[in-house]
Amino acid sequence: MTGARRNAGAMTGWLQRKTLDFDSLPADQRLKPTLDWWHLVALGVGAIVGTGIYTLVGVGAGLAGPAVTLSFLVAGLVCACAALAYADVSTAIPASGSAYTYSYVVLGEAIAWVVGWSLILEYSLVVSAVAVGWSGYAGGFAASLGAPLPPALLAGPLAGGVVNFPAVAIVALVAGLLMAGTRESATLNAALVVVKIVALLVFVVVALPHFDIANYHPFMPFGFSAHDVDGTAHGVMAAAAIIFFAFYGFDAISTAAEETRNPGRNLPIGIIGSMLVCTALYVLVAAAAVGAMAYTGFAGSAEPLALILRGLGSGGAAVVIGAAAIIALPTVILAFLFGQSRIFFVMARDGLLPRWLAHVGPRGTPVRITLLTAVLVAILAGLVPLADIAALANAGTLTAFVAVSVCMLVMRRRFDGPRLFLAPWPWLVGPLAILGCLYLFFSLPGLTRHFFFLWNGAGLAYYIVWKLLRRSA
Ligand code: ALA
Repeated sequence: MTGARRNAGAMTGWLQRKTLDFDSLPADQRLKPTLDWWHLVALGVGAIVGTGIYTLVGVGAGLAGPAVTLSFLVAGLVCACAALAYADVSTAIPASGSAYTYSYVVLGEAIAWVVGWSLILEYSLVVSAVAVGWSGYAGGFAASLGAPLPPALLAGPLAGGVVNFPAVAIVALVAGLLMAGTRESATLNAALVVVKIVALLVFVVVALPHFDIANYHPFMPFGFSAHDVDGTAHGVMAAAAIIFFAFYGFDAISTAAEETRNPGRNLPIGIIGSMLVCTALYVLVAAAAVGAMAYTGFAGSAEPLALILRGLGSGGAAVVIGAAAIIALPTVILAFLFGQSRIFFVMARDGLLPRWLAHVGPRGTPVRITLLTAVLVAILAGLVPLADIAALANAGTLTAFVAVSVCMLVMRRRFDGPRLFLAPWPWLVGPLAILGCLYLFFSLPGLTRHFFFLWNGAGLAYYIVWKLLRRSA
C-alpha cells in the first residue's frame, strides 16, 4: 500500500479522495488478519443463504408465477457481474469498509458518504429483518414444544405487541460472539452454513421426484416487465427486484478485507466462490419448488419450502427445513452485523463518525462499534415490523453495487496501486452490473424508492451540516 493515509477529519474538499497506509495506523485502530479463503466462502454463503430462499421464493412466485425461476436467473446474473466488480476492486483496495471505502478512494468523500449512508440501509435492515424473521420461526418452535411465549413478547408495538424479545435476544447473542473474536465467529459460521446447505439439498432431493412440467404452464402469467396489478408491482422483473434480496451477502466478505490473510488470493475466491455455490443452489431449489407444486399453492406463504414438503406428504422433511432455518438463519445476522460494524468502524476511523468509536479491543475486534451497532439494530428489530422493508434494504444494496461497478471502471483508467485480480471483460461486466442494478431499482415498489430518497436526503443534510461546522471550527 503506498502513500500516506490522509486524515479525513482534516479534509475540507468534498471531492477529496482517501489514500491508504495501514502502517501509520495506531495499534488500537488495526484489525487482525486471521481469515482464510474457506472462512470467506463460508462467510459469504452464510450471508447469502437466508430469508431470501427460505421465504421470498413464495413472494416471488406470487409476483411472477412459474417464471420466478427466470427472476432468479436475472437477479443472479446482475449479482454475478457485481461480484466480479467487488472481487476486482476489493483486492486492489484491501481495506475494511467495502463500497464506502472504495468510493472514498476512487470517487471522493461526498459520494463515499452517500454510499456509506445507503449501506446502513442494506446492512442494518437485513440484520433487523432476518432477526424478526428468525423470531417468527423460534416463536413457532417454542409453541410446538408446549412453551409458547406471550404474544406481547413476540412483536413490537407497531405490530400489536410490546417488544420482539427473541429478535433482540438473537442480535445480542450474535454480537457477543462477534466481540469474542472474528476467527471464532467465522469458524462457528462455517459449521452452521453446512446445516442450511444440507437442508436445501434435502428439499431438492424430496421435491424433485414430484416434478411435473404441467406446473410450468402458463410460464409468465404476469409478463416480463414490472407493472401494477391490484396495487402491487407484478412481472418477472418485479419479482427479480425482490428476489435480489436472496443473492446479496457476498459483498459482506469485502468488509473483512483487513482481517483476511493473503487478500489478493482469498478475497476473489471467497466472493466469486460463494456466489457460484448459491446461484447453483437457488436455481435448483426454485426449479424444484415450482415443478413440485402449482405456484398458486405456495405463493405468499411465510414458509413456502416447508409448505411444499408437507403438501408432498413429507412432514418429517418439513420439520428438518424449519429446524435448519432456526439454527442457521443467524449466520445472515452474523455476516451483516459484522459488515455493518466494520463499515461504521472505518467511517469513524476516517472522522465521519466520532473517532473514539474506531477502537480495537484486546481480542482484536472493534468492541465499541460492534456493541453500538448491535444496540441500534436490536432496537429496530425489537420495535418495528420489518417484513415489508426487505425492499428498502435492496435499494441500499443496489446503490452500493452501482458504486463499486463504477469504481471498477474508473480504476481501469486511473489507479496506480498493484492489481491482484482483474475482472474479465470489465467494459461488459461493469455496464451490465450498473444497468441491471438501475433496472432492478426502478422495478422496486414506488414507496420504497420514495423512502430511499428521503433517507439519502436526510444523510446529505447531515453531511452538509457536518462539513460546514468543520469549516467554521
Ligand atoms: N441474502 C440474504 C438473505 O436471503 C440477505 O437472507
